[in-house]
Amino acid sequence: MSADSTDGLSTEPTTEPTTEPTTEPTTEPTTLVIFGGTGDLARRKLLPALFQLGCKDRLPENLKIIGFARQNLTDDNYRDLMGDSVREFGSLAHRTDEWAMFAKNIFFVPGDLDSPGDYAKLKSRLEFLEEGRQPANRLFYLSVAPRFFGPAVANLGSSGLAGEPGLGRVEQGWRRAVIEKPFGRDLDSAQALNESVGRVFDESQVYRIDHYLGKETVQNLLVFRFSNTIFEPLWNRNYVDNIQITASEEVSVGDRAGYYDQSGVIRDMVQNHLLQLLTMVAMEPPNAMDANSLRNHKIEVLRAIRRGGPEGAARNTVLGQYKGYLDETGVDPGSSTPTFAALRLYVDNWRWQGVPFYLRTGKSMAEKVTEIVIQFKRPPHMMFSAAPGDELSPNSLALCLQPDEGVHLRFGVKIPDQGMFMDSKDMSFHYDSAFKDQDIPEAYERLLQDALEGDASLFIRSDHIEQAWRIVEPLLDSKNRPHPYEPGTWGPEAADRLLAENGHKWLGLCGAEDEGHA
Ligand code: BG6
Repeated sequence: MSADSTDGLSTEPTTEPTTEPTTEPTTEPTTLVIFGGTGDLARRKLLPALFQLGCKDRLPENLKIIGFARQNLTDDNYRDLMGDSVREFGSLAHRTDEWAMFAKNIFFVPGDLDSPGDYAKLKSRLEFLEEGRQPANRLFYLSVAPRFFGPAVANLGSSGLAGEPGLGRVEQGWRRAVIEKPFGRDLDSAQALNESVGRVFDESQVYRIDHYLGKETVQNLLVFRFSNTIFEPLWNRNYVDNIQITASEEVSVGDRAGYYDQSGVIRDMVQNHLLQLLTMVAMEPPNAMDANSLRNHKIEVLRAIRRGGPEGAARNTVLGQYKGYLDETGVDPGSSTPTFAALRLYVDNWRWQGVPFYLRTGKSMAEKVTEIVIQFKRPPHMMFSAAPGDELSPNSLALCLQPDEGVHLRFGVKIPDQGMFMDSKDMSFHYDSAFKDQDIPEAYERLLQDALEGDASLFIRSDHIEQAWRIVEPLLDSKNRPHPYEPGTWGPEAADRLLAENGHKWLGLCGAEDEGHA
C-alpha cells in the first residue's frame, strides 16, 4: 500500500496531496517523539506496541523514541518507567534481553506543551540524536489531551521541528504528525483544528487515529468482502434486510468519568468507531488498497447517510444512561450525558436504499462484544416450519470483531427425525483455532508501523472527520434526556422498540449468550 498513489476515480478536489517521499527501508535517522510520553496511552499501548514491533524487526533501523512530558525524568528514569509498563501491558516478561537493546534507543525530554522554549530544547536533543545528519525523519505522536492538539502543532511549526524553512522535504526527511482522537468536539471545532493543523502540516503528513482501523478483524472486513465472490453479489438491498453494528462494553466509565461526562457516547464511540465500521460494511469496492481509493470510497458512504436534522435524530435515536452513572466520581450529579446510544441510519444510494443500519453502543452493558450482523431477507415463500414453539430466523452473517474474533453464518437445517421441521444453526470460523500459532496483534502495532512507513490508508482524512461530525451533530444537540437502564443489560427497552418499529430485533451471534443480545 502506498500513501501516494491515486485511483483516478475521485472527482473531488482531494485533500490529499501526493508529494510525500516514499519511506522504504532506510538507514536515515528516524525519531518518534511521543508528546504525553508518560501518559496512559503511551504506557499501556504505544510502548508495548513499539517493543513488539521491534521484536518482530518491523521498525526503521535504529529508530529512536523520545518521550516528551512535564515530569522531570532522566533518560534512565524514563526507560525504567516504560520497562515497567511493557512488563505490565506487553511482552517484556519473556524478553528481557531484547528490552535491554530496545531501551538504549529510548530518551526523555522534560517539557511543557505550551512552552516554546521547551520545543527548542526538544529540537536540539533531536538534532543531537540525529547526529546532525540529513535527511532525518521525524514522527510526532500527539498522545495528549485534545485541548493541546492545536497549540502543540502550532509550536511544532514555529520551532522549526515540523520543517525547516528553505529546506525541501526530500533533503530534510519526512515529518509526520499522528493525532489521537477525539479530533474536535463538533463540526466547528474539528474544522478549526483541521485549519490550524493545515497551517503547519500538509494533509499527507497528518495521521488522524481511530484505533478500530488498526484492529485485524476490522481490516478483515475488507478482505472478507472483497476477496470472496460469494458474498458481494448479496451485499445490497435486494438480499439484505438490515445491518446491525454493536459495540457493547461491560465496563462503566470508571476513572475516565471526568472526560466522559464532557463527551458522552456519541463523541466517544459513534462519531468515530461505529461510523468507521459502517463505512467499511457499506462502501463500494475500491479498485486498489491505497489510501486515496479507500478513503474516497468511505467518505462516499458518509455523504450518502440521510441527515434528518433534529427531528430525524429524535425519531431514529435512543439514548440511555446507566443507573448509577450520576454517582460516579467526576460526573455532574445533574448530568444528562448519554452512556448508551442506539441509532437507525439510512444510506441513500443505489446499493442500500431502504435498508436500515442499526448502531448500538454503550458502557455498563451485559457483555463486551463488537460485531456486525448482516441479516438477509426471508425466503419469498416458505414450505417448512419451525419446531413447535420455535421461530424461524432468516440467514444472517456475523462478523465478530472482538473478543472472539471470527465469522458466523446462520442458516436453516432440517431437524433430524422430526418430519420437515427446521432449526437455525451456525457455521463458524474462529481466528484462535484457525491460526493457532499466530497471535492477533494489538491495533496500535499496525498503526504505528503504517505511520512510520507512510501508509495513511488506515488513518482518517480531514474531510472524513468533518463529514462524520455533520452526521452526529443533531444527536449532540438533542434535548432528550437519556433513558435510564440497568447496568449489565443490553440498554434501555426503547432501543428494542426502535427496531420493533421496522419489525426487527437486535441480533447477537458472536457473544457468549450467542443469541439475541436483547
Ligand atoms: C475508545 C473510547 O476510543 O474506545 C473508550 O474512548 C472505549 O471509551 C474504547 O472504551 C473501546 O475500544 P476497544 O478497542 O476496547 O473496543
